[in-house]
Amino acid sequence: MSHPTPHLDAIEPKLFRQLLGCFPTGVAVITTNAADGRPAGLTCNSFSSVSLEPPLVLFSLRKASSLLRAFVEADTFAINILSQSQDVLSARFASSKVADKFEGVAWRPGPLGTPLIDDCLASFECRVHARHEAGDHEIFIGEVKHMTTGSADHALVFYKGAYMMLAESLRKLVLGGQLGTADIDEAYRALYGTLLRLACERASDAEVDVIEAAADEIEQHQGKDALAQRIEATARFFSSIALAGHNEALRLMAQTMTTVLRERMTHVIPARPRPEAFPLRRKVVQCLRARDAEGAVSALDELIATLRKDSGVHDEAAVVPAPAEG
Ligand SMILES: Cc1cc2nc3c(=O)[nH]c(=O)nc-3n(C[C@H](O)[C@H](O)[C@H](O)COP(=O)(O)O)c2cc1C
Repeated sequence: MSHPTPHLDAIEPKLFRQLLGCFPTGVAVITTNAADGRPAGLTCNSFSSVSLEPPLVLFSLRKASSLLRAFVEADTFAINILSQSQDVLSARFASSKVADKFEGVAWRPGPLGTPLIDDCLASFECRVHARHEAGDHEIFIGEVKHMTTGSADHALVFYKGAYMMLAESLRKLVLGGQLGTADIDEAYRALYGTLLRLACERASDAEVDVIEAAADEIEQHQGKDALAQRIEATARFFSSIALAGHNEALRLMAQTMTTVLRERMTHVIPARPRPEAFPLRRKVVQCLRARDAEGAVSALDELIATLRKDSGVHDEAAVVPAPAEG
């Protein structure tokens, strides 16, 4: 027999929110243009599909939001569905403290002129179909006029008040210093060594071009202020090697390691440029082109050893304290 569950008559607000959080949702950034032409947007998990014919979607916006006016005055909006790598973007667009939410964010106007954010899983540009008042929220129903496919990453999922993702638990491990450098390096060597061997057999020339382009990009982003771009280019370098290996299970493991890499580059490893690593990444690419698996693997080993040298990381727990919860 199942446990007796208490029947709750009073809808106590805190518990109401908590129970709503039991329903996992995706996360989107909804954007529009304010009357002065400036882009506006917020993080939103109330997005839902409504109708296929005609294609309708909805989201609800808190009436107290500073953005209500912009959305009420505009006759178009865009839904940008976030990937699990875009949790920082989600936090940015959910914060009232960020004065210009679009600063440093890559976006372009869609055919209707609404801001489409780069690297999302999908974007839908809508014309407002209807608006309904509902309690402390305003429901916007949009007719989808254009849609864009994007990144092949997994979705960012919001569940029980937090992002439900592998990345979140990995982040805690990295920041808490529970993943040791020696273990991580061994995992990089084993995983990417195998992927490089496979890529030497299976990668197309175009896939090697993508890996090379990522290496070029790392070299271009060496300025002190270019850490975010350097992290993304480095993540792309490794994830494109993973794609070129053509093994879906290993690619998933590599995705986990990319998350670890991002967290370490952001919070643990001193974030200075490492020009001494340039020739080694180039060597990895050259060996891939020449289908020289042994050469590629030894260049990777050298790359890891070089990056670790003088990195100042001995014990992560001592470098960065675990953040407070919440
Ligand atoms: C995961 C998540 C989902 C959210 N969903 C909504 C939503 O559906 N509707 C809404 O009005 N606010 C939602 N918010 C809150 C807004 O993002 C936030 O209040 C707003 O961006 C703050 O900007 P403002 O102060 O400029 O209005 C959500 C926040 C998070 C973190």
